[in-house]
Amino acid sequence: MQVISNIQEMQQWSRQKRLQGLTIGLVPTMGYLHAGHLSLVRTARQQCDVVIVSLFVNPMQFGAGEDFEEYPRDISRDKDLLENEKADILFTPQARDMYPPGYSFLVETEGEITGKMCGASRPGHFRGVTTVVSKLFNICGPDKAYFGQKDAQQVTILEKMVKDLNFPLEIIRVPIVREPDGLAMSSRNVYLGSEERREALVLYRSLQAAAEAIRDGEKSVEELKRTIIAIINSSPQAQIDYVEINRADDLSSIDRIEGTVLIALAVKFGTTRLIDNLIVEV
Ligand code: PAJ
Repeated sequence: MQVISNIQEMQQWSRQKRLQGLTIGLVPTMGYLHAGHLSLVRTARQQCDVVIVSLFVNPMQFGAGEDFEEYPRDISRDKDLLENEKADILFTPQARDMYPPGYSFLVETEGEITGKMCGASRPGHFRGVTTVVSKLFNICGPDKAYFGQKDAQQVTILEKMVKDLNFPLEIIRVPIVREPDGLAMSSRNVYLGSEERREALVLYRSLQAAAEAIRDGEKSVEELKRTIIAIINSSPQAQIDYVEINRADDLSSIDRIEGTVLIALAVKFGTTRLIDNLIVEV
């Protein structure tokens, strides 16, 4: 695996591969890799001739007071993991090159798809994501780009961005990878104390309980939310940021369960904010 930090060098490498007729898969990450990230890399490896994994902790998508400075980093471990997965390139651009002095362009996302859930709790977050991902698309020129269902709103927004802005590539969604006990894997799980880690299991349990209620015929979104909230609140440490049930395709609001729905939540345990979700088809 080759490590490239220079943006022009990355662009040239990709141009060369395209000229050779090879398909390029891109897996954007912020590093501190776990089995969730690696499942994206593995899927890309199966579907594309060459695989680029980008590692960039993007300052633009962190709000004031969020964990940009503390965000976990371990690039030498990440390198070993990616060598194992047979990635071709680890792309590690520098913030001063991605956003040099005088940088002035943003990719703005608006509407119902952005204004709720994490978009409401983290103003400006998705603008930071759409901006950096557009830059990565322009630099790496992928045929396919891989994103996890773990960040359901993020991948939905990015699919819409590719469609609305005519990026010539396909977004591939990869299912959530969980710990054996059900906790969705996240780079932020290392922040959890042992009690918080135990209590964080209420997230997946509450999602499963709602899915079961839906399968048993419950149609009321309000009632389902009450069920979820009661389970989460059984953990003394949990502080709910949001619990939402929306249409899975465009995240539009619903009162009654119909078609495919996304049950999504964000909950804080101490200072650690975790997200999780489940798609349920009726
Ligand atoms: P990061 O949190 O590092 O996640 C990188 C990719 O891994 C995302 O597409 C995310 O959805 C996926 N992922 C994380 N945990 C997962 C899990 N448990 N199962 C499956 N996939 C999982 O998301 C970002 O970085 C950034 O916002 C980024 C897209 C790189 C833009 O900066």
